[in-house]
Amino acid sequence: MKECTLLMPLDMHLHLRDGVMLETVAPLTSYTFSGALVMPNLVPPLTCKEDVIAYKKRISTALGQVEEVDPELMMDDYFEPYMTLFYQNYDVKFLADVQDEITAIKLYPAGITTNSEGGVSSFDIEEMRPTLTAMSELGIPLCVHGESDGFVMDREADFMGVYELLASHFPDLKIIMEHITTKAAVDMLDKYKNLYATITLHHLLITLDDVAGGMMQPHLFCKPIAKRPEDREALLKVALDAHPKVMFGSDSAPHPQHKKEACGCAAGVFTAPIALQVLCELFDKHGKIDNLQAFISDNAQNIYGICPEFKEVGLVEDPFVVPEKYGEVVPMYAGETIGWSIESVI
Ligand code: NCD
Ligand code: ZN
Repeated sequence: MKECTLLMPLDMHLHLRDGVMLETVAPLTSYTFSGALVMPNLVPPLTCKEDVIAYKKRISTALGQVEEVDPELMMDDYFEPYMTLFYQNYDVKFLADVQDEITAIKLYPAGITTNSEGGVSSFDIEEMRPTLTAMSELGIPLCVHGESDGFVMDREADFMGVYELLASHFPDLKIIMEHITTKAAVDMLDKYKNLYATITLHHLLITLDDVAGGMMQPHLFCKPIAKRPEDREALLKVALDAHPKVMFGSDSAPHPQHKKEACGCAAGVFTAPIALQVLCELFDKHGKIDNLQAFISDNAQNIYGICPEFKEVGLVEDPFVVPEKYGEVVPMYAGETIGWSIESVI
């Protein structure tokens, strides 16, 4: 039976939500990941230090990592929520004050995806300059949901001009192109030294055909929408080669079943509980399992300069039947059998 050991897995783009949903989904990631970059698109979004601290505390409480808990118990399943702030134009004093509480700031174009209404409505470099200059000086990375409001299949490619503007005007700012889905974005990586990218599990596996080519598959509908076969091939190549500027970010985005299986389906694919198993299967299928450690952790550690707590996850090539639901949420591959399972977590 084939085996794979992964050290300190990191998910550098994760939606944990709040309330009951947070309690359902957070343990599914903390079980196997050492940490995750937690997205700030709550309602209302996270735009101040107090809200970030309070949300981090709610995450810790949902995971049983509260201070009163026996420290030895905490060590067993320690998980670091790397917090983010929702991009708005902030002044340098505000950023210097919040810096210790966050790992990055996430920029959403206004209205482009779930809970992004308070995002940026025009990419006017001069308006953004004070904030982005301060972020460059303080060393706070900028994570970007890179989509225009154009035709849905062209939204990411259309956004490349904005990435070029940002990367060239702010050469000392680390810019992460989030959940890239196109060859155009892959090609950008080597053009600017300060551009990086996250890639999801589902965009390595599916194209638009899987979403809407046959019967409509609401659980595969997400933003950015899955693209063409040649785009998936370009993503697969850089992921399987563990290109040093790409890292895993699941964009696991839970919505209750009634919001997905509905007229006006919410965007988001829920992959947190199957991500490591399916990545092992995929990298193994392509003979690249030795590169998975870099894609799942080492590259992110280098890019963000983070040192996660030790965690060792053992996986085996042994079938696993994906549950139909976790709480109210239907995962990708619900009810199907995948080839690899989690065997141990130390
Ligand atoms: C995300 C969500 O539901 O919060 N949805 C998605 O389709 N990916 C938001 C996002 O990352 O775009
Ligand atoms: Zn997301």
